[in-house]
Amino acid sequence: MKVLITGGAGFIGSHLCDVLLGRGHSVMILDDLSTGSMSNVEQHLDTPDFTLAIDTVLDEMVLDRLVSECDVIYHLAAAVGVQLIVQKPLHTIRTNVEGTTHVLNMAQRYGKKVVIASTSEVYGKSSKVPFSEGDDTVSGPTTKHRWAYACSKAIDEFAGFAMAKESGIPVCVLRLFNTVGRRQSGQYGMVVPNFVKQALNGDPITVFGNGEQTRCFANVADVTRAMADLLSCPAAEGEVVNLGSNSEISINDLAHTVKATLQSNSEITHISYDEAYEDGFEDMLRRVPDLSKAERLLGYASTIDLEQTILEVAGHA
Ligand SMILES: NC(=O)c1ccc[n+]([C@@H]2O[C@H](COP(=O)([O-])OP(=O)(O)OC[C@H]3O[C@@H](n4cnc5c(N)ncnc54)[C@H](O)[C@@H]3O)[C@@H](O)[C@H]2O)c1
Repeated sequence: MKVLITGGAGFIGSHLCDVLLGRGHSVMILDDLSTGSMSNVEQHLDTPDFTLAIDTVLDEMVLDRLVSECDVIYHLAAAVGVQLIVQKPLHTIRTNVEGTTHVLNMAQRYGKKVVIASTSEVYGKSSKVPFSEGDDTVSGPTTKHRWAYACSKAIDEFAGFAMAKESGIPVCVLRLFNTVGRRQSGQYGMVVPNFVKQALNGDPITVFGNGEQTRCFANVADVTRAMADLLSCPAAEGEVVNLGSNSEISINDLAHTVKATLQSNSEITHISYDEAYEDGFEDMLRRVPDLSKAERLLGYASTIDLEQTILEVAGHA
């Protein structure tokens, strides 16, 4: 199959590209390199089944050509990372909502299947454990910029299913939970690469808030294998599917695990959310996925443990 990956030079997109090429598919990437990097995909530049367009999903003419040539679209291009979202909320909304609108319009024009990379952030402030795909979403106030990301992704999901209903194109939404691995940049507020970098440099490992908030970290290899499996899973069309790990760890314990795994002498310090992001920043205490749908549809399992993932992020494995 010929697969278009928007955001394919990013962290998850480049791993998805590796998996799909490895399975014999052709891959076209569209990426503006805003948070992605050529270095993530340069190993494929001489591969005949690989093409790269450095451009934006906001350019309809470019999208028109690429979508006309592909069989299926994985739409990953987005403004990502809490730091970027809080600093550039307008850019976030525009990139995520307009970008997805363009992708869906072109998919409709050429009758192509779309897989939309959404996020666990869509569940918002809900305190339910675990989050199942049919659960209510609970957003925060519109004056708090961090919710712009969750709401823009929720609009993308609505738009995808609306397009599927009105035009008949197959659409699947993946709600990705925290995904970690090689090539992830810490630049935009991703916790594991930041802790790893601090630990390797002997700098203080900086926990935001009191550190009792928990998250579940999946290795990108598990997540992208499941994403690629979607190509042969028509039962996932019209569905929202959670993907991630359900192994929960507090951010304090994550800091200790990074320090121990990398045998670092760094001290562990705490700073407030206000200092880290913006005044009145709201965070969720827990975010655990119900993975039963991914297990049933895709035979999904999270197989790689956190210590191994930390070693990979550190470049030690
Ligand atoms: N990493 C995670 O834990 C996580 C969790 C939930 C959801 N997601 C979703 O997965 C997708 C990929 O995220 P990632 O972690 O790989 O981040 P990333 O920043 O590495 O990837 C996003 C890619 O999109 C590109 N991009 C941004 N705006 C663009 C535009 N206008 N046109 C073309 N390309 C553009 C960037 O350059 C980058 O390569 C995103 O849609 C994100 O919302 C990621």
